[in-house]
Amino acid sequence: MSKKTDTTRRAIVGATIGVGLGIGSLSLLAPVISLRPKKEETPETEPPKEGDVFTFAVGDNAGKEITFDDLPLEGPAVLAFPKDPKTGVIKSGEKTNLVLLIRLKPDELSEKVRQYAADGTVAYSAICTHLGCTVGEWDAAKGLLLCPCHKGFFDPRNGAEVVAGPPPRPLPTLPIRAEGNKPVVAGGFTSPPGVLAGTEAAGGSCAV
Ligand code: FES
Repeated sequence: MSKKTDTTRRAIVGATIGVGLGIGSLSLLAPVISLRPKKEETPETEPPKEGDVFTFAVGDNAGKEITFDDLPLEGPAVLAFPKDPKTGVIKSGEKTNLVLLIRLKPDELSEKVRQYAADGTVAYSAICTHLGCTVGEWDAAKGLLLCPCHKGFFDPRNGAEVVAGPPPRPLPTLPIRAEGNKPVVAGGFTSPPGVLAGTEAAGGSCAV
């Protein structure tokens, strides 16, 4: 088994957000940003919702629905997009819809994670809470999710809490349940995915 997930980080968003903006600049921008028209939601950008299945986000199987058998026990994590099973629309039009599915031993999960997991499988936002890179690597030796941009480490057994590096908060959890042999979405993210306004200028650039 590879120590890292494949090189998805180059294929997936690795956005740089707010690089080089000082605090003063941000506060000047704030009123302008709030006046922008809200981005129109489409079936492809709609956030994950109850009953959505998951599809591979990258690689030869991109677009194929994910079953528990596709998820290697103890990692690495698999990058996925939700899919509305009724319309068949894959929600790949919004970066914050990208999630990590990882299958772990159920008894290793913390209590707070277990309530959102299905048979040891947990889903987290794949977008780093620091500057928005894709958390696309897996440190098998430490059993941690890794954002390669500034070495942010997250613990998937404990709610993707930040273990090391500059991310200011954990990766949001996406509750899931089992439906047959498939993980499906059981509710919305436990907190907003991505970079929160006001935290994006805290570090350097997202180069990956
Ligand atoms: S963008 Fe992830 S650690 Fe900086």
